Formats: sequence, C-alpha cells, structure tokens
Amino acid sequence: MPDPDDFIVVEQPVPALQRGAVLVENSWFSLDPSMRIRMSGGESSYFAPYRIGAPLDGWAVGTVVESSNPDFTVGDTLHHACGWREHAVLVPDGSDWTSPRPVGVGGAIDARHHLSVLGASGFTAWAGLFKVAQLGPGETVFVSAAAGAVGSLAVQFAKLRGARVIASAGTSEKVRRLTGALGADAAFDYRTRPIGESLRSAAPDGIDVYFDSVGAEHLDAALESLRPGGRVALCGQIENYNHGTGASKGVTRLFSAIEKGLTLRGFLARMYTDDFGEFRSEVSHWFERGMLTVDETVIDGLENAPQGFIGMLGGANIGKTLVRLQAEA
Ligand SMILES: NC(=O)c1ccc[n+]([C@@H]2O[C@H](COP(=O)([O-])OP(=O)(O)OC[C@H]3O[C@@H](n4cnc5c(N)ncnc54)[C@H](OP(=O)(O)O)[C@@H]3O)[C@@H](O)[C@H]2O)c1
Repeated sequence: MPDPDDFIVVEQPVPALQRGAVLVENSWFSLDPSMRIRMSGGESSYFAPYRIGAPLDGWAVGTVVESSNPDFTVGDTLHHACGWREHAVLVPDGSDWTSPRPVGVGGAIDARHHLSVLGASGFTAWAGLFKVAQLGPGETVFVSAAAGAVGSLAVQFAKLRGARVIASAGTSEKVRRLTGALGADAAFDYRTRPIGESLRSAAPDGIDVYFDSVGAEHLDAALESLRPGGRVALCGQIENYNHGTGASKGVTRLFSAIEKGLTLRGFLARMYTDDFGEFRSEVSHWFERGMLTVDETVIDGLENAPQGFIGMLGGANIGKTLVRLQAEA
C-alpha cells in the first residue's frame, strides 16, 4: 500500500503558452486504481508507468483560462489527462485517445460527471457488461467491487437492461447501499464469509456473467457459480495491485472454464472507443432523466489527494473518488 510520504506537492511557475496550447485551471481530477499499477515501475501497455520525481497524471476536467489555440476560447471546459495538478498547459491536437477534448456542461451535467458516469468509469462498466460479456435481459450477473466507481454503475446499467444483479463489497454499509439506492437484487460483504458460499446462497441456480474488478478468490467463486456457456468480463484485479500485475494470486478453478465452455475476456475500455457514441447516448438518456444514482467520494485539495488515493485502494470510498480543486461556483 502506498504511503502519504511517497508523495510531495511542489509549486512551479506556469510556462508561457506556445502557439496551439491552452492553459487550463483544473476543477476536478480522478483517482483510479490503475494509478497503483503505474507506481510499480516496469512496462505495461495499460498506461505508462509513473516516473519518480515527475508529476503524476490522470483524467481531469478544467476550464480554459488562457488560449493560444484558435479552436478554444477562455471558459471552455476540457477533459484531459493532466490531473494531479491545479493548472495544466495542454495542446489539444487530437493526436491520440488521451488528447484534451471539449465537454458539454449544463442541466444535470456537471464537468465532474465526465470523469464518472459519462466518462471512463461509466464507459468501462457499460462496455464490460454489454460489449465484452454480452449481458442480456433476464440473465444473472455478479459484480465485484460493486459499491465503487465502475461497479456501482455496472449494477445500475445491468438492472436498467433487465438483468438480475448480485453484488459484492467490503462493508455492511456498502451492502445496504447496493440493495437500497443502487437496486441490486442481492449483495454480500466479501469479508465476512467465504465468497463462494455467499455467491451460492445469492444465486443457487448459478450466474450467467461475472464482471470482475478483483480477481483472486472472487474470480474463483464466480468460476464455480457460472453456468455452462457463461462469460466473464475481466475488468481489473485490484486484489493484486499492491503485489504487481505479474503476481496474480488465488485463481485455482480455471478448469471450470474448460468443463463449462466459459468465455473469459479481458478488456480495456479504450479498446471499445468506436462504441463511445452509443454509450453516451444510452447513459446520458438514463442520467438526464434521473434514473441513475451517482455516488461520489470527494477529496478537497491537491494536498489531500494522496490520502484519498490510499483510502480508495483500501475501500474507504463509496462510488467515484474525485479530487475537487475549486469551490463550487
Ligand atoms: N479495464 C478497464 O479499462 C478499467 C477501467 C477502469 C477501472 N478498471 C478496474 O476496475 C476496478 C474498479 O475501479 P474503480 O475505479 O471503480 O475503483 P473503485 O471500485 O471505486 O475503488 C476500488 C475498490 O476496490 C475495492 N477493493 C480494494 N481491495 C480489494 C480486494 N482485495 N478485494 C475486493 N475488493 C477490493 C474497494 O472496495 P471494497 O470496500 O468493496 O473492498 C475499493 O473501494 C479496478 O480493478 C480497476 O483497475 C478497469
């Protein structure tokens, strides 16, 4: 587990803007489990590793306060990849999938929603359920880390598409939230009893789909409960992030995949970029009509971000973990 002393906040002058650049004042940035993978060194095709002494990055939203780019004016809201800082000089040239892009705000939609329900967390949940695992109406899906950013949306999206949802999380408060406001049909605290037992009680007839954010014992339990032809969307392995991605532990039942003809499919949300428009139209429709509960854990100020990040890794968050850099207007 990282330690707050692993992080320092430094002040640096903002560089002069080159032609084509904009200066953005960040209002929110996202804290994500994948950042822990980036702290382990080594190479990964997921995201580039962080370098010691260099600023951290990650998804953020902010307002253009100075522009040397004819396509952007002061006041525009941008989504970009330079979080963990108050100001960022950006070149929105559309050169790759992390390039800064303008986002709409207004009505029910605040800039921060482009980091959660309408952004990476929502898209990961939607793509994993419907594109990777091909979840259909009437099927039973098990969602792990279900009270977190991706999981809490996966639970609700699956319900809205007519599935039966079983959820797991790490506290009784989260379990109550899952069967209450988030609408899961059944939920359990994975810390209190063997996961396989809890899953069998919640789904005596088995499950069709497992949305896996954890790996290890959760994945083993799902492999046991999956019905023939079942599917697993391998979204994350948070159980292993403090041990490095090469040290997966606890998956002992892979033979079930052979016996039952299961499909286990890993994915990164960005592999489904072509489907982003379909995601936005379906999920904005639900969100703008008040059909989604978007839980958030808000950390105030850059100096508190490390503690917020560590808390999120350990389960102190409910819903999306965000750092707020400016007081609400
Ligand atoms: N494939 C992709 O493109 C993609 C994109 C985004 C995220 N992800 C993955 O999706 C997962 C969830 O990400 P998120 O942003 O939504 O984070 P999150 O769920 O909001 O926060 C992480 C949660 O993981 C749970 N957790 C921590 N250690 C655990 C353990 N040993 N066993 C079970 N649960 C544990 C904690 O909740 P509890 O209190 O319930 O333990 C914690 O709240 C992560 O694995 C992440 O890497 C994948």
